[in-house]
Amino acid sequence: MLNDMLNLGVLISGRGTNLQAILDACAAGTCAAQVAVVLSNVADAYGLERARRAGVPAVCVPARKGERREEYDARLLEVLQAHEVDLVCLAGYMRILGKRLLAAYPQRILNIHPSLLPAFPGLEAQRAALEHGAKVSGCTVHFVDEGVDTGPIILQAAVPVYDEDDAETLAARILEREHEIYPRAIQLVAENRLRRQGRRVLGGQPGPVSPSMAVKEG
Ligand code: GAR
Repeated sequence: MLNDMLNLGVLISGRGTNLQAILDACAAGTCAAQVAVVLSNVADAYGLERARRAGVPAVCVPARKGERREEYDARLLEVLQAHEVDLVCLAGYMRILGKRLLAAYPQRILNIHPSLLPAFPGLEAQRAALEHGAKVSGCTVHFVDEGVDTGPIILQAAVPVYDEDDAETLAARILEREHEIYPRAIQLVAENRLRRQGRRVLGGQPGPVSPSMAVKEG
């Protein structure tokens, strides 16, 4: 592991296409980070295979019967710390994080969600947007806090909702944008560009340079 790179711990529960986008961006050098470990709560999550193929440690941590959230999170935390993870990236990870994990990584846990938050938090966000009649939907990368999909927003991308869409076609259109904005958001953290102002996360979306600012007087 190189010392000047951000060490990522990616948490998954399924196929891991966002994980793949992150692995690809790290390999291409567009993301100044490296995936130090991939963790899944689901044993046959395909994302674990993606990690192995990329030469990244792939660890399955299934929940034990009757295990409390805090106990489970303590086991996750052990693995993250053993791999010297700096930034935790939830990528289709379908469990809620407990206080202990949040406290161990303050402002250092990101999530991607397939809607324009705060609209349609929770499960099946694409179906919810469609059934609500939204004409625009998209995806959001945000810092994780104690709520479900409630944390401060880092980046969003919008896509149109067409009359012909069903939940699958809309999800596919959104997913393409997810693969763009998640590595970008990680890069913003790696470059230390983000700053907080209340709920607002600034630094990820600078405004257009106005002509008067662009032209130097003299
Ligand atoms: C993605 O669409 C992600 O936004 C969503 O799960 C999918 C995972 O796909 N996450 C959530 O709904 C979290 N609330 P992937 O495994 O191919 O990255």
